[in-house]
Amino acid sequence: MNESILKVLEKLEEQSSLEKSRKVNVLPEDRMLAITKETGELLNMILRLKNAKNMLEIGMSVGYSTIWCAEAIKEHSGKIISIEHTPSKIKRAKENFLKAGIEDIIIIKEGEAMNILKEFSKKENYRNFFDFVLIDADKENIIEYFDTVLPMVSLQGVIITDNMLYPEKYREDMKKYSNYLKTNPNIITITSEIGNGEEITIKIK
Ligand SMILES: C[S@@+](CC[C@H](N)C(=O)[O-])C[C@H]1O[C@@H](n2cnc3c(N)ncnc32)[C@H](O)[C@@H]1O
Repeated sequence: MNESILKVLEKLEEQSSLEKSRKVNVLPEDRMLAITKETGELLNMILRLKNAKNMLEIGMSVGYSTIWCAEAIKEHSGKIISIEHTPSKIKRAKENFLKAGIEDIIIIKEGEAMNILKEFSKKENYRNFFDFVLIDADKENIIEYFDTVLPMVSLQGVIITDNMLYPEKYREDMKKYSNYLKTNPNIITITSEIGNGEEITIKIK
């Protein structure tokens, strides 16, 4: 891995573990709430296996997951569209992308995820467009995010959803989501124990 990317990832991993240890008092709006390193590696591997070119991320925070994905997608001259509504996190993410040297391949969409997704879904060029999607924003709207995104995912495209198992406060919402996915004949899906629990979903029809 390129030295600049590695350095930024390592720095963010340090921040994330401090945040989780509660040794420092981080204000709620400043929390990274990042995926684990193991999940970063998983996303990176899937993007490589798929030769993915068009990725959508819902919930960017300060860009830790985005950087793991960018590291893979840059190999195929791909692009990541990433959605986030907190200005201070967007500012930090931009600084991190610059330091990692990947700012050119990330398009940040600032605002409410559902509004942005609804706008995207009206555009014909986004039909079957994304070969990889990461859903990692608020959990209350998770089913609506999935339903809005699915028509924009290409055949054999992958959707990863974080926090299926942890934190436990999301368990109930995530169980409902997982049961909902199981009723859809157009996808195959499994819940893996990687990281905070990752739902791995493939669009087959
Ligand atoms: C779990 S964090 C994302 C972590 C990031 N994917 C990572 O692993 O580095 C969720 C992020 O989604 C953002 N978010 C939550 N609800 C949102 C919404 N309705 N619209 C846009 N962003 C939202 C939060 O501000 C937060 O930064």
